[in-house]
Amino acid sequence: MVHHVPWIYTPVRTVLAIWNQLTKTEIPELAKSSVLMRERSRVEDTIHAMQRAGAGSLQVISDFDMTLTRFAHNGRRVPTTHNILDNRLLIDEDCAKKMRELLNTYYPIEIDSSRTAEEKLPFMVEWWTEVHELLIQQGIRKDMLAQAVQESSAMLRDGYKLFFDRLTEQQVPLLIFSAGVGDVLEEVMRQHRVFYPNVHIISNYMDFDQTGVLRAFKGQLIHTFNKRDGALSHAAGLRALQGRPNVLLLGDSLGDLTMADGVSEHQNILTIGFLNDQVEERKESYVDSFDIVLVRDETMDVANAVLRCITSSRRNK
Ligand code: C5P
Ligand code: MG
Repeated sequence: MVHHVPWIYTPVRTVLAIWNQLTKTEIPELAKSSVLMRERSRVEDTIHAMQRAGAGSLQVISDFDMTLTRFAHNGRRVPTTHNILDNRLLIDEDCAKKMRELLNTYYPIEIDSSRTAEEKLPFMVEWWTEVHELLIQQGIRKDMLAQAVQESSAMLRDGYKLFFDRLTEQQVPLLIFSAGVGDVLEEVMRQHRVFYPNVHIISNYMDFDQTGVLRAFKGQLIHTFNKRDGALSHAAGLRALQGRPNVLLLGDSLGDLTMADGVSEHQNILTIGFLNDQVEERKESYVDSFDIVLVRDETMDVANAVLRCITSSRRNK
């Protein structure tokens, strides 16, 4: 019978512990009071696996409205790309009123924790379809969009510049996958000076006629709960994202979790969910579904810290 010889194991364990400390980068931001995690050790293991693989293996997939943009500022809601269009330069008062009524009807359904995504789906199609029809009737002018964005209170989350700059420096592709309006989204990015070449966008784009007047929306409608379809149909066309098996995913809706469904042969996926609204009602399902949940956190601090850690691999130096 072989007896244990602890004096051999103790130094081995000590060396392993020191090695772990040396190779792991701590992320103090994960201790913020706004952070909830179902399984902290899994989060850390995933981050370290992604760190070892380096920036060359990483892609970031993010939602736009209320994920890259703030939810609220000084107690007031920050407009989504659709809401930025609520400007008299583009639509009349009657249309604005109807859009607000639709928002009041359908937004509570979108965030209702007592309904499944399947149950919400037909309501989302109704909402988006009706709003797009209203917008088309208004004959929106393409050359007025930039001014409407300028006059709006659109705001990206605090720390956004660090986020976009880091991704660009490290040549990590960023896919923004939005059920908002692509043309408006691009203009928000341009005016914040972060519409870099590593940014790719899937969204609802406006189709203008030769005189620059809106006549339709291009392609298949994207709403909050059909992002999986868009992810699968666009995957082949997004060459910059291919061969990058590690995914950092950011979203504010449970529907955003399907944005990475087009990534074939993924190795590690880390999901961060912004829980902006209906916090108590949705907390449990968010913690069950996202790896990291950020409760009423208007900053990019945690995403930036995770990104800094993943892209600080020795391989990149
Ligand atoms: O970029 P993202 O996918 O988040 O854009 C969709 C968001 O826009 C939804 O969460 C929804 O609340 C909002 N929306 C809106 N007005 C509409 C349609 C959607 O504010 N007419
Ligand atoms: Mg969103």
